[in-house]
Amino acid sequence: MVTIVVVGGTGYTGGNIAREAAGRGHTVVSVSRSEPAEPVAGVRYELGQVDEVAPRVVPDADVVVAALSPRGDMAGRLVAAYQQLAELSAEAGARYVQVGGFSSLRPAPGAPRVVEGEIPEEYRAEALEGEDTRAMLVEKAPHDLDWLFVSPAGAYGAFAPGERRGEYRVGGEVALFAEDGSTSISGADFALAVVDEIERPSHHRAHIGIAY
Ligand SMILES: NC(=O)c1ccc[n+]([C@@H]2O[C@H](COP(=O)([O-])OP(=O)(O)OC[C@H]3O[C@@H](n4cnc5c(N)ncnc54)[C@H](OP(=O)(O)O)[C@@H]3O)[C@@H](O)[C@H]2O)c1
Repeated sequence: MVTIVVVGGTGYTGGNIAREAAGRGHTVVSVSRSEPAEPVAGVRYELGQVDEVAPRVVPDADVVVAALSPRGDMAGRLVAAYQQLAELSAEAGARYVQVGGFSSLRPAPGAPRVVEGEIPEEYRAEALEGEDTRAMLVEKAPHDLDWLFVSPAGAYGAFAPGERRGEYRVGGEVALFAEDGSTSISGADFALAVVDEIERPSHHRAHIGIAY
């Protein structure tokens, strides 16, 4: 069993990961500014701004999962927040798993990343900032940090929670599509994939994608 700090552990992504990890018996510490709407049994909730709470809780972590979102007052602040988490994780010797966006994937081998093409206005700022967080890891992560950047499928998010099927596929930086061309993953199955990777690490300093 390991100690997992889930930054954003009351959100859509972090909440599912915290639930999956606690359900498997791991020690889970969630970081958020507000109380969870529905606390998960076994999860310790640490409240406050990420830059104030992380220095207290990351030193005890085996794994840090970063699942903030660049929305509201966090717009424009994610790269700095994640850089601090990456540095704290390296100091703690913890593995660092950063959740990003679908738009950082490539639609086909050798093609430009999705974010380099036309993105609907309502998603553009989030997509660009998510890509900046990927670039931060690749270019500035401490050399000894065991990091992982995880992109979900395109039709992933609180707007499409889906159901737990107990299955998923793991790809690299080229997006996975179903036979009908769709790209989706439920919140529960994305969390399943992330916690499986935490329990059986098979990707290091790498970008992976998770989809059906
Ligand atoms: N299809 C896609 O590509 C896709 C779709 C959805 C999400 N994503 C990615 O997944 C990641 C997570 O998104 P999400 O939708 O799951 O997020 P979310 O539901 O908005 O959750 C964000 C979490 O971060 C916490 N938080 C925000 N600011 C904080 C701060 N300053 N200090 C401490 N905690 C803070 C929130 O709690 P408080 O507000 O109480 O602090 C909450 O727990 C993002 O990188 C997002 O881009 C990708």
